[in-house]
Amino acid sequence: MRSYPGLFIVFEGGEGTGKSTQIRALETHLKSQGRDCIVTWEPGGTELGEKVRKVLLDPASGPMDARCEALLYAATRAEHVAKVVRPALERGAIVLCDRYWDASRAYQGFGRGLGFATIDRLNEWATQSLFPDRVFLFDLDPKSGLDRVRLRTQGQLDRLEQEGLDFHQKVREAYLFAASLDPSRYRVLDASQAPEAVSVQIRQEIERLRP
Ligand SMILES: Nc1ncnc2c1ncn2[C@@H]1O[C@H](COP(=O)(O)OP(=O)(O)OP(=O)(O)O)[C@@H](O)[C@H]1O
Ligand SMILES: [Mg+2]
Repeated sequence: MRSYPGLFIVFEGGEGTGKSTQIRALETHLKSQGRDCIVTWEPGGTELGEKVRKVLLDPASGPMDARCEALLYAATRAEHVAKVVRPALERGAIVLCDRYWDASRAYQGFGRGLGFATIDRLNEWATQSLFPDRVFLFDLDPKSGLDRVRLRTQGQLDRLEQEGLDFHQKVREAYLFAASLDPSRYRVLDASQAPEAVSVQIRQEIERLRP
């Protein structure tokens, strides 16, 4: 059960699906209405988390043991939930978070083959079972997403983006599977639409949750 007055909204999906673009747009919209809202992200979102983020995303880190990778994500998530997300929810803020628990299910659980159950056990402990109120899942063919990322970064890809298309296809399927397990918590968005069309759907949903 929820024990806080805030609203915890998570944005999930593969690389280049438009999460950050939509978070920025929603933040502007909510702030223009005078609402208390914060934007945060994973991995990272805290000083310590940003250091671990560098290790996780730096191609120079090379192939990493899958359990090590899952633990590093869970470790930064614990710090992030304790220091940033819960305090904001407790004061009543709308928290917009770029990636969370489901990213670990998709990338480490499915992509790396550790399984959903292992990732869930680890994350229940790390977050003390803090579940999002709503997850927007940005669904897009991974090739289009990676092409968008290449355009944005002049061809530079981070350690996870550099994985093959079959890895990213698994990630997409895992996200859709996660959404199918708990349909009331998820909104699957067709991320191939124009940004404004996606924004409208997100705003309508927030309006329903918090009129
Ligand atoms: N609906 C859209 N249609 C076409 N291009 C888009 C759309 N939304 C975002 N973009 C562009 O695609 C690129 C990736 O978008 P964005 O950074 O928001 O994705 P992301 O999901 O946050 O990616 P990452 O996983 O790398 O953080 C950006 O250059 C952005 O301008
Ligand atoms: Mg982003």
